[in-house]
Amino acid sequence: MTETLPYRWYTDGDVLARERERLFAHSWQYAGHIGQLSEPGSYFTLRVGDIPLVVVRDKAGTLRAFVNVCRHRGAEVVSGEGRCTTLQCHYHAWTYGLDGALRAAPRSEADPDFDREGLGLRPAQVETWGPFLFVNPDAGAAPLADTLGDLPQIVREHGLDVDALEFHQRVDYSLEANWKVAVENYLECYHCPVAHPSFSEVIDVHPDRYVLESHATFASHFARGRDGEGQFHLIWPNIKVNVMPGRPNLSIGPLVPTEPGRTEGWLDYFFAPDMDPDWIADYLELDYQVGAEDRELVESVQRGMRSGAFEHGRLLLPSEELIGAFQRWVAARLDYTPSRGNSSSHERE
Ligand code: FES
Ligand SMILES: [Fe+2]
Repeated sequence: MTETLPYRWYTDGDVLARERERLFAHSWQYAGHIGQLSEPGSYFTLRVGDIPLVVVRDKAGTLRAFVNVCRHRGAEVVSGEGRCTTLQCHYHAWTYGLDGALRAAPRSEADPDFDREGLGLRPAQVETWGPFLFVNPDAGAAPLADTLGDLPQIVREHGLDVDALEFHQRVDYSLEANWKVAVENYLECYHCPVAHPSFSEVIDVHPDRYVLESHATFASHFARGRDGEGQFHLIWPNIKVNVMPGRPNLSIGPLVPTEPGRTEGWLDYFFAPDMDPDWIADYLELDYQVGAEDRELVESVQRGMRSGAFEHGRLLLPSEELIGAFQRWVAARLDYTPSRGNSSSHERE
């Protein structure tokens, strides 16, 4: 496939609705780090696609996740993060245990037909890789290990022990671009020498020495730096995992579509404990710089796609082979006919 996906797939609300249903409602998503659930009763909320979830450590210490939608009339049960002994809805105070069972509903004794059985929170899934928490809104989805595949081993073999990392900070950002534009930008370093001069000073971006690898559930780049190897992975469809050369470090986070032309994301940064703050500051400065350069690129692409001037673009191989792999993965799951033309995305509906 040397043609890109149709540009309409990057601007159309129907396509995003289908992506939410077919990609995000069943995929493992990075949710946060284990320090957010340090105590029994610790919880936090997040959304995957447009599905609200709550992740909690129960009294026995087990991690649990639920769809954070009240079985009464649909409010989000809890918000934010904190400590709790029950999950109590803020609307009419229906109260769920940390196992998700409905424990109490005020005035329910007056309703003779009311049965708490069967009105528990819908379970979702939560699992960990080292300090990283992943959730899946689909309780029936295959385990996280199937999605991660060889990635934990690859990360380790390339020199990083994720269990030795500590959470440092979260950085939120938003982009005026479709989430796939941001993913595709991440999947190639063809643009690095042109658009990232400072990054290209510390990482060897020459195509003969910059390695691209496509796996069933993720894609990887490996590149040498002055003081070690960098690894950059994208877990299908939308989770970035970055390891820069040098001291132990990793950043991880999703690209979350909020509208066809708008994406929100965050990166959680992890470092070895007691690392030199100056090294961290330089690292974050370079990361911020690269992020600002990428923002200009993806927002420019979104404007170009939206203009209607062309129906699709042309991938350049092999430099963009990981984009090809991503586009095939997306197209297979959306089950659209990836042909050109304005009606293509409705053909199968
Ligand atoms: S919607 Fe939750 S208690 Fe009414
Ligand atoms: Fe970039």
